[in-house]
Amino acid sequence: MGKSSQKIVILTGAGISAESGLGTFRDAGGLWAQHRIEDVATPEGFARNPDLVHGFYNARRVQAAGADPNPAHQALARLQREHPGEVVIVTQNVDGLHEAGGAQRVLHLHGTLAGALCAACSHRWAAPMEMQTGQPCPACAAPAGRPDVVWFGEMPYFMEEIYAHLAGADLFAAIGTSGEVYPAAAFVDEAHLAGAHTVELNLEPSATASRFSERRFGPASETVPAWVAELLRQS
Ligand code: APR
Repeated sequence: MGKSSQKIVILTGAGISAESGLGTFRDAGGLWAQHRIEDVATPEGFARNPDLVHGFYNARRVQAAGADPNPAHQALARLQREHPGEVVIVTQNVDGLHEAGGAQRVLHLHGTLAGALCAACSHRWAAPMEMQTGQPCPACAAPAGRPDVVWFGEMPYFMEEIYAHLAGADLFAAIGTSGEVYPAAAFVDEAHLAGAHTVELNLEPSATASRFSERRFGPASETVPAWVAELLRQS
């Protein structure tokens, strides 16, 4: 199979949105340095103090709505448009910057800030900018609205679809992720099993850097457009 029609699967993390002004989780001064995961990113934390959790996601929703896609997001959208083969983007990010950058059919493994979910009937709807404790569900009226974000201890979304894409990948790339959170951190191993070439694009080596065939370090706004231009020259 020529490079032109190779199937490309891309995993992104918070690092791809860092240059759009959205904080990452584990870098110095990151979100998990300011907030306790147990309090704001677990179902138990939500049950204990829903005001605190809504406050956390409301602030992130406002910030994300005010952020713009950067050259890394735009380059991946370009790759999707111009590469003759299939390009699948799987993101751990809950912001909408891939779509704002022009990408299509992005699989949001950890949900989205733009969505609300009913904890009673699983109905989904567009989240208001400010969600309240006891947010009523427009379908069942239960006061059970929560951010449609996957918390620790919960099953990520689209897993079957993602594993099917990985099983058919010729090229797998991980961009702006620390490789600390599973199952996403093990996608590189799935891609290897499928015989794919694997590349990490990150500011610095991630926790799984050694498991990639190739590593490129630097800010995503520089490394990703250069990598995409190279791929498109080959195709
Ligand atoms: N360009 C490229 N990479 C960057 C940049 C940048 N400008 N800035 C930071 N990075 C890298 C960091 O070096 C780090 O390896 O991005 C990574 C961000 O790692 P995390 O903060 O751990 O974010 P992520 O990997 O997306 O976290 C995974 O953990 O907290 C949960 O659900 C949350 O989806 C999240 C998951």
